[in-house]
Amino acid sequence: MTTTEIATSSIDIFSDEVLQDPYPHYAALREEGAVVYLPRNDLWALTRYRTIRDALENSSVFSSQRVAFNDDMNRALAGTSLATDAPDHRQLRKTLLAPLTPRALKSIEDDIGSKADRLVDDLVARGSFDAIGDLARAFPLQVVSDMIGVQGVARENILRWGEAAFNVLGPMNQRSVENFPVAGELFQWCKTVRQEDLVEGSLGHGIFESAKRGEIAPESCGAIIHQYVAAGMDTTITSIGNAIAHFAAFPDQYARLAADPSLVRSAFNETLRYEPPVNLFGRHVKSDIEVEGTLIPAGAQAAVLFAAGNRDPRHYDDPDTYRIDRDPADHLAFGYGIHTCAGQGLARIEALAILSACARRVRSFRVGEGQRQINNMTRGLSSLPVLEIRAK
Ligand code: HEM
Repeated sequence: MTTTEIATSSIDIFSDEVLQDPYPHYAALREEGAVVYLPRNDLWALTRYRTIRDALENSSVFSSQRVAFNDDMNRALAGTSLATDAPDHRQLRKTLLAPLTPRALKSIEDDIGSKADRLVDDLVARGSFDAIGDLARAFPLQVVSDMIGVQGVARENILRWGEAAFNVLGPMNQRSVENFPVAGELFQWCKTVRQEDLVEGSLGHGIFESAKRGEIAPESCGAIIHQYVAAGMDTTITSIGNAIAHFAAFPDQYARLAADPSLVRSAFNETLRYEPPVNLFGRHVKSDIEVEGTLIPAGAQAAVLFAAGNRDPRHYDDPDTYRIDRDPADHLAFGYGIHTCAGQGLARIEALAILSACARRVRSFRVGEGQRQINNMTRGLSSLPVLEIRAK
């Protein structure tokens, strides 16, 4: 492909039809080119594994000032780690990461493990339940709310807020418009939350202590809490829900895991590769750049399709097959480069705790029909009835 022949596609990557089952569309885009212009979205889609990694590494050209696909959200996110470029990004990320380092997380890992064991014991005893509502949502709701110290009305709303926070990153389609008021409730709560609203000893409470010690600006406290909720809820929920859905869809793979629960880390990596919770993020192209022979002009908006890169046959063998022993630790689901997911340690602890509790207790299970949850940015289910469980 040369700069005079730009690969284009007429699909709207945020349409219901594409979001219902994006993978055939992503495969077509990937074969069309490493870079494909989408006139209906006015976006330059980056479709292949290598192209995506290279772009995420080149953050001086592929800027995070437009991670969302609409101007209102990009304005609202200004000043957050997610939407800030180097060099300012470094300090913001450092502050955000402090409570999420492996050392900091070590202190809550055992507690998360015990909570997972209790929840799974309870669900196995019930025999039938909704794998999304009763497990994938219930667990991060408890863990993240406890960790941040969220209580009362905020705790009751945190699931709605987390889902809306991703929908509004899309273009100004109906889904975004409908979700703006809900995402606005989260912004408003974070703007007004006080230390005494959060449980003493929690991470959220501690952020206000850091501000008192002068380590961060007092006005940053709400913004940091916003990032934990907005980035940390729906993603983790989706990853756990998708893992259960894959185990149900590929019972031979679950049987391997149940026989050898030490495969759980590899199985989780494969779940994130096969169906990343976040399909894509945006980037603002700051200067003309030629990518694989295609010139992307300065000022353009790029769409980094993690989910397309994760199924690129140029990088992964037989990429449409779900194989729990593949262990694709280099998947793109947590992004890559300076903005690589700041919460991946926590997400992994939560997911591994739940999935290994399942693998140790459940021999096999049978599910009914799941309902897809259509979100501009994330890919998961809204329900998945577990009809029957055979305990070990
Ligand atoms: C399986 C669960 C998760 C997935 C798949 C995920 C995915 C991602 C991705 C793809 C990015 C990169 C965004 C970009 O390049 O523009 C990211 C960044 C980020 N994530 Fe996660 N995430 C998960 C869980 C979490 C959790 C639990 C938290 C916090 C408690 C969190 C906090 C963040 C933050 C703060 C950033 C921005 C980092 C920066 O800009 O330096 N994430 N995440």
